[in-house]
Amino acid sequence: MGKKLLYAGLLMVLILAAERSQAADEDPGKQLFLDTCQTCHRINGTGGDVGPDLSSVGARRDAEFIRQSILDPNAVVTEGYKPDIMPKNFKELFTEDQLNQLVTFLSHLKEPSKETTGASQDTKNPYTGNPQAIAEGQEIFLRLCAHCHGGNAEGGTCPDLTDDYWIFGGTDKVVYRTIVVGRKGTKMSGFWDSLKSDEVWKVIAYIRSKYKGGPEKIVW
Ligand code: HEC
Ligand code: HEC
Repeated sequence: MGKKLLYAGLLMVLILAAERSQAADEDPGKQLFLDTCQTCHRINGTGGDVGPDLSSVGARRDAEFIRQSILDPNAVVTEGYKPDIMPKNFKELFTEDQLNQLVTFLSHLKEPSKETTGASQDTKNPYTGNPQAIAEGQEIFLRLCAHCHGGNAEGGTCPDLTDDYWIFGGTDKVVYRTIVVGRKGTKMSGFWDSLKSDEVWKVIAYIRSKYKGGPEKIVW
């Protein structure tokens, strides 16, 4: 091998190592949480409320409990919540290392955050009427939803999302949950693994922008 080539190779290795150590500065467990869990769980005021707020989960649960909650969600169902909502395939999705990182991150969350104490803030869409968010929501809708719900959310073989008829009510909370968890026994599957909580709210902002029902029937 020529010397130049050798130096170039060494430089490459150094750059890669630097990049890796930079990424390791950030808590890998936190990153896993943001990527996989936040759509359903809130920490410090950010995330979904399909599952319990985990801002202080480390104060009420030990590491063993948290691990079990991830691997076998139905073993203990948190009071006030239903079974079979939390996905059961994390055992296959995560390596043992990733699982440990996630459990370590969650075990250290012990402070209840002030932002999470307001009960009603968690159910309102922060993006209703926001043009930028609606445009981003439309992009997501066209990519993931239009083939069933129509290019303008007008329905087709699946429900019209622009009218004032909602199978289970049309509040932000119910619609969010339908998109994240899906509807058992129908073609509507949950998008928890492909949308962040922010993106779910943007899609809902888009759906609201297409609303054609009576203004007096707006429940969100
Ligand atoms: C589709 C929604 C959803 C996703 C995604 C999800 N969860 Fe959950 N989770 C729930 C629900 C609902 C509960 C409460 C019912 C139960 O215990 O199964 C719950 C319960 C928990 C609990 C128990 C909390 C307590 O105080 O009892 C922990 C811990 C937890 N989840 C961690 C996670 C982690 C970590 C991830 C990501 C790897 C995750 N969850 C992904 C819905 C979800
Ligand atoms: C494979 C087809 C399919 C896809 C893709 C799909 N849906 Fe659905 N969706 C359905 C069906 C079927 C229902 C009716 C479920 C029922 O009967 O409870 C539904 C119901 C809904 C409802 C509740 C409607 C009501 O009247 O209560 C909402 C909201 C919704 N979908 C939003 C979305 C969004 C947003 C996306 C994309 C992120 C999406 N759907 C992707 C098939 C689909």
